[in-house]
Amino acid sequence: MLQDICLSFGASPVLNGAEIGVSPRERICLVGTNGSGKSTLLKLAAGIIAPDSGTRFLQPTATLRYLPQEPDLSGFQTVLDYVVNGLDNEADVYRARSFLDRLGLAATKSTDHLSGGELRRAGLAGVLAAAPDVLLLDEPTTPLDVATIEWMENELDELHAAIVVISHDRRLLESVARSIVWLHNGRTSRLDRSFSQFEAWRDEVLE
Ligand SMILES: Nc1ncnc2c1ncn2[C@@H]1O[C@H](COP(=O)(O)OP(=O)(O)OP(=O)(O)O)[C@@H](O)[C@H]1O
Ligand SMILES: [Mg+2]
Repeated sequence: MLQDICLSFGASPVLNGAEIGVSPRERICLVGTNGSGKSTLLKLAAGIIAPDSGTRFLQPTATLRYLPQEPDLSGFQTVLDYVVNGLDNEADVYRARSFLDRLGLAATKSTDHLSGGELRRAGLAGVLAAAPDVLLLDEPTTPLDVATIEWMENELDELHAAIVVISHDRRLLESVARSIVWLHNGRTSRLDRSFSQFEAWRDEVLE
């Protein structure tokens, strides 16, 4: 869906020929060191920012949802207002409510003064309820507790969406990933294996 992407902030390029292809129902983890450009690449995939050069393609009929590293609920009065924004049918709204229930977040709660964990839960309820064709998640588990993470893993497993997830959470990476996209020096390398195979492969590539 992204091809030959270059993007600089100021002088040095963050992305320099990066790419990411997403087929239906794929489970891709996007990994790389802090500041390597993972969030930037996901924003490009979401269409929120534009590259200096390169192409983005999304099947015209495909739906996409993006959960940013820090969901922004300002502009919405209650958690429910935020979560149902962009949901276009009653069934999805019903699902959103039941996700909030299971996440222990009151639908009527004001969006003022939510904790990091509450913002994350609200964001998750919204993107999961939408059941999109492509789901982009930027560090969905920080700062959530283990029970919630396990619940989320099960929900992701049942979802028909293709998923691209950024995470530093080893357990999540091992349970979700069927492919790894490694971002390094502005370029991407792909391994169609589970996360447990990744580190040995990366070390080989680095040598
Ligand atoms: N809007 C921006 N303006 C200027 N520089 C930016 C902007 N967004 C990102 N950067 C820079 O681009 C680089 C990549 O940032 P990005 O947030 O994509 O990295 P990341 O891999 O997601 O890091 P982390 O693992 O810490 O979340 C960093 O050096 C960051 O400072
Ligand atoms: Mg990031």
